[in-house]
Amino acid sequence: MLLKILSFSTLSILFFTLIFIGGYVSASGVGLSCPDWPLCPAGLIPLADFIIEYFHRTIAAITGLMIILTMVFTLKSKQAPKGMKIASIIAGSAVMVQITLGAFVILERLHALLVTLHLGIGIILFSMIVMVTLYAWRIQDNKEKSFSKLEKSTVS
Ligand code: HEM
Repeated sequence: MLLKILSFSTLSILFFTLIFIGGYVSASGVGLSCPDWPLCPAGLIPLADFIIEYFHRTIAAITGLMIILTMVFTLKSKQAPKGMKIASIIAGSAVMVQITLGAFVILERLHALLVTLHLGIGIILFSMIVMVTLYAWRIQDNKEKSFSKLEKSTVS
């Protein structure tokens, strides 16, 4: 149940906020509104001048943590199949690369190749978290099915 909730909330934050805000940062040309790394010029204070970029980084940090947690719980789970474990390891590694790459995107002043790689890794990350979430739901369904089978067999 924990993995189901964790992976689904990670997926929702990743897709509905981070990738969406990342696209907005890029399309509205505010990628360098926060030119420092890792913090913005006012430290932890979000100022209107760089609020969108500030949110992108803050949510990236939260999502990163959630993806690592999802990986740890998946690797610890006895019911998680091999495919789910592999997908979670790829997601965990991709998020580290993505966050490091985010720093280079800023330091290299939005170099086109780095921005393209950043988008590409975002897509890989999204696909891996979709896989982990689908596996987590299947484990839960299988558990419920085998429980109701057991219940029926003990009653009859
Ligand atoms: C899990 C982590 C992250 C994900 C999934 C993610 C995803 C994205 C996506 C999808 C875009 C839009 C790319 C495009 O349309 O070409 C984007 C843009 C951007 N991201 Fe991230 N991002 C992450 C972390 C970071 C971090 C830590 C930074 C560090 C500062 C960062 C900096 C940027 C910048 C500056 C842009 C805009 C580039 C431009 O202006 O073209 N990202 N991100």
